[in-house]
Amino acid sequence: MPIKKLLVAFTITASLLLPSLIQAQNNNLITVQVNKPIAPIQPTMWGVFFEDINLGADGGIYAELVKNRSFEFYKPLMGWTVTQSKFNEGSVLVINRQETNIANPRFVSITKDAATDTLGITNEGFRGMGIKKGLRYDFSVMYRQQTAGLTLHAELVSMAGKVIGSAVINPSPGIGAAWSKAAVSFNATDSSLSGKLNIWFEGAGKIDLDMISLFPEDTWKKRPGGMRADMIQLLADMKPGFIRFPGGCVVEGYDLGLRYQWKKTLGNIEDRQLIINRWNSEFSHRPTPDYFQTFGLGFYEYFQLAEDIGAAPLPILNAGMACQFNSAEVVPIDQLDPYVQDALDLIEFANGDANTQWGKVRAAMGHPAPFNLTMMGVGNENWGPQYIDRLKIFSKAIKARYPDFKLVNSSGTDPNGERFDYLNTELRNMNADIIDEHYYRKPEWFLANAARYDNYPRNGSKIFAGEYAAQSDHTVSIENKNNTETAIAEAAFMTGLERNAAVVSMASYAPLFAHIDGWQWTPDLIWVNNLQSYGTPNYYVQKLYSTNKGTNVVPALMDGKSISGQDSIYVSAVTDKNTSDVIIKVVNASANVVNKMISIIGAKKLSTIATVTVLKSNSVLEVNSFVTPDAVSPVTATMQLKGNKLTATLLAHSFTVYRIGMK
Ligand code: AHR
Repeated sequence: MPIKKLLVAFTITASLLLPSLIQAQNNNLITVQVNKPIAPIQPTMWGVFFEDINLGADGGIYAELVKNRSFEFYKPLMGWTVTQSKFNEGSVLVINRQETNIANPRFVSITKDAATDTLGITNEGFRGMGIKKGLRYDFSVMYRQQTAGLTLHAELVSMAGKVIGSAVINPSPGIGAAWSKAAVSFNATDSSLSGKLNIWFEGAGKIDLDMISLFPEDTWKKRPGGMRADMIQLLADMKPGFIRFPGGCVVEGYDLGLRYQWKKTLGNIEDRQLIINRWNSEFSHRPTPDYFQTFGLGFYEYFQLAEDIGAAPLPILNAGMACQFNSAEVVPIDQLDPYVQDALDLIEFANGDANTQWGKVRAAMGHPAPFNLTMMGVGNENWGPQYIDRLKIFSKAIKARYPDFKLVNSSGTDPNGERFDYLNTELRNMNADIIDEHYYRKPEWFLANAARYDNYPRNGSKIFAGEYAAQSDHTVSIENKNNTETAIAEAAFMTGLERNAAVVSMASYAPLFAHIDGWQWTPDLIWVNNLQSYGTPNYYVQKLYSTNKGTNVVPALMDGKSISGQDSIYVSAVTDKNTSDVIIKVVNASANVVNKMISIIGAKKLSTIATVTVLKSNSVLEVNSFVTPDAVSPVTATMQLKGNKLTATLLAHSFTVYRIGMK
């Protein structure tokens, strides 16, 4: 190229580049002003959403290993197989006493005529049973003998068919109508990811059996009949500000008969009436015909769990409406009273003293002290005037009795559109305490909407980002993956939630758990099999936020503006008055390394060392797995400040948390 042309080309290129270079220079400085708090961060800010979906409760955190332990599934022997040397009509007979025992109508009656025959029943567990070598297993059964003479042998059997633990149960000699409970413990001699429980009968006789149960010893806090410790530990590690339960759509049920009724989940487990789980048949592409809610985990246990992990309980109650995606049944307005009464009684159950009707029930279950319930949700993803009409009745009754009690209200299934606009207007006119917004959207939506709350009204209703997850494919697609791209998009969006702590008081990812062989919905925060559990990249994002919550949001600006996507960078900052730290969260959503300078101003003192925790990966498609559970997980190091400045080298597709002491 002749020299003149070259000069012209250079001049044009330089003149095009120059403004952006100048711009880039101006945009290189992030200023965090620690002495200008914008709003307090609510202690509830980052929480967890628990629902019995994907085998979350039964087959999940509820550590019971026997599926269909009381033969109440609609196919009474689902999960069980009968083995016998000689076919004998009625040797394992299901008896249904539905007229006299509504909660637990069925049991099996075992008849064995000849001692020389063999007869046994085997339970397959929830996609098998996870058995750990050396661990104690607690077997129990309710029984009554019709004819004495049968000895029970309980055996753990590995995938390879080897007996890896056994115990003998000799029923006490009495015969008659009363039920007894036998319990025996034994150790497993080997491990199995997918074992089963075999019960075989020695001798001859006739015995009725019900509530056949097997729990591992190593439950959370070693509680008999308790929860799976590894799964609960992952929650406890997050230090969640609240736990929402029991859902989700299970609150509503397919129809009103199958709605979640908390009063039926209390007391002795044999008296808790099981219902079909609405996720059982929700998706034809992920059928789960053996999915029921046994309520071995009920509201008492959920409150206890909340207390254990230091999270505020957030129960969600049915608003007199079944799932509007399913039957859309509603209870007539003039028959709403029992539903409203359930809400009032729940507050008494949680907080009332032992002299109140429902406080007495809680105390009798083992918790005389109150659970300190301060809020509840009325309705899950309900919408339309039929919701508002019912909600007004709930709100009036609850506020009349408990004026300071906070109510979470639904804004429907989507964060925009006609339904949302209608509900948002109505709820704000009602001066709703907290509006629950849900968004299952693509990562791009999360990036583009990180500033969603910047212009929300500062007064009036607070926001609960009650269910959200970036979908790598599309909502309810079985292809959705918990990959780094989705986690980083959520982290970016969460800077907007944090920056707007004046408006957003709570947030939770959804759903929480999924069993690798029993899920209906993906993506999910934590994946488990029968023996292992691991956090996804999305889990680590949630954990980094909740364990770096702080107490006050402070300005973090670039070029005088909040940072929400300029150069693909997203920033929020908080101070923590308990630790006197400033915590700065920075997301780089781009495929390139981005260099910034962070200047911390307004601090009387500043440590010379920052703790830097980075979540990054080699590819946006990278995921964690049972084999590599920590492939995408945070790495912590320290770095030196230069005066009040930090050089931030923000890796591609990364989430970085800087923590600097100000003592
Ligand atoms: O989180 C899974 C489901 O998504 C919830 O049950 C429901 O509220 C939403 O539609």
